[in-house]
Amino acid sequence: MSAIRIVSTGRALPGKVMTNDDMSKIVDTSDEWISSRTGIKQRYFCDGEMNWQLAVESARKAIEKGDIDINEIGMVIVATFSPDYAFPSVACLVQKELGLRNDIMAFDLNAACTGFLYALNVAEGILNSSGEKYALVIGSEQISTRLNMEDRNTCVLFGDGAGAAVIEKNVTANYATVMGSDGNTTALICPGQAMENQYIDMDGKKVFKFAVSTVGNVINELLEKTDKTIQDIDYVICHQANERIIKTIIKQFDCETDKFYMNMSQYGNTSAASIPIAIDEMYEKGLLAKGKTIIMVGFGAGFTWGGMLLEC
Ligand SMILES: CC(C)(COP(=O)(O)OP(=O)(O)OC[C@H]1O[C@@H](n2cnc3c(N)ncnc32)[C@H](O)[C@@H]1OP(=O)(O)O)[C@@H](O)C(=O)NCCC(=O)NCCS
Repeated sequence: MSAIRIVSTGRALPGKVMTNDDMSKIVDTSDEWISSRTGIKQRYFCDGEMNWQLAVESARKAIEKGDIDINEIGMVIVATFSPDYAFPSVACLVQKELGLRNDIMAFDLNAACTGFLYALNVAEGILNSSGEKYALVIGSEQISTRLNMEDRNTCVLFGDGAGAAVIEKNVTANYATVMGSDGNTTALICPGQAMENQYIDMDGKKVFKFAVSTVGNVINELLEKTDKTIQDIDYVICHQANERIIKTIIKQFDCETDKFYMNMSQYGNTSAASIPIAIDEMYEKGLLAKGKTIIMVGFGAGFTWGGMLLEC
């Protein structure tokens, strides 16, 4: 079955660390409230860095780690809802900065926090219908520019960062995808350029309910499609929005807690970057040796959702 494999990964974070105590100097909040409701301890905010620069740094690391010949990279897809410019895309800036070939597509894709999963799915389709060897898929966000720093309901939850993966074709039965969207405009919205403000607005409880019901369904569908059980899966990497969301999902499955990787304590919710950042950390820790089977699940504004079961 045509599938993809992750060849190498990289991540990039801006220099400014904001702890929960730092946030409590900006809005009426506390480390206790944020930690207990979300599991988040700190996040990174850009302080002069731009989205495309984070994307480039993460991609450069992935290319170096995989010892990739850049002339064999056949497309660049950047998942982001917070590009520096309406155009050119972040992907075009990455292509230029890294000196990639000019005869390839470079484009951004916006599926909010599900963006990286959508981008992997699109890259799989293009790789398998072209003669290209590698795709460079990046999730990169500068969410701090879209945060109302007077709204404690949202500003404590998010962070900036980027994660990149070089992927290639694979042939394996250990592969399945599930993707969806429904057009919800009331629970989680970030107004566009023509609007009065461009700040994230969220009904946290509605998003929570959506997340815990959808992610479980996506995992079950992936397992059904591949005739597997949760015991056959080495790790589940969910979008790192909130520890309570992931702990609620774990209860739906008969498995050990540490099968579900979590790192939001360090980064907050980095939207499309959260899954590739997590994957990069996991490779560094030696958790994703060749042959391991993982499930990645994204969920976010749109609403959008996406899951992928693949073999490392
Ligand atoms: C956002 C979230 C943590 C809020 O938790 P909650 O238990 O639903 O909290 P509530 O919204 O009921 O708020 C409870 C109280 O805490 C307050 N509160 C909200 N943010 C706060 C903060 N940062 N610090 C202190 N108090 C805060 C609220 O104002 C409310 O006060 P009130 O009762 O006096 O009105 C939770 O709804 C959530 O995780 N939702 C999902 C969000 C998400 O992951 N979004 C991204 C998806 S991609």
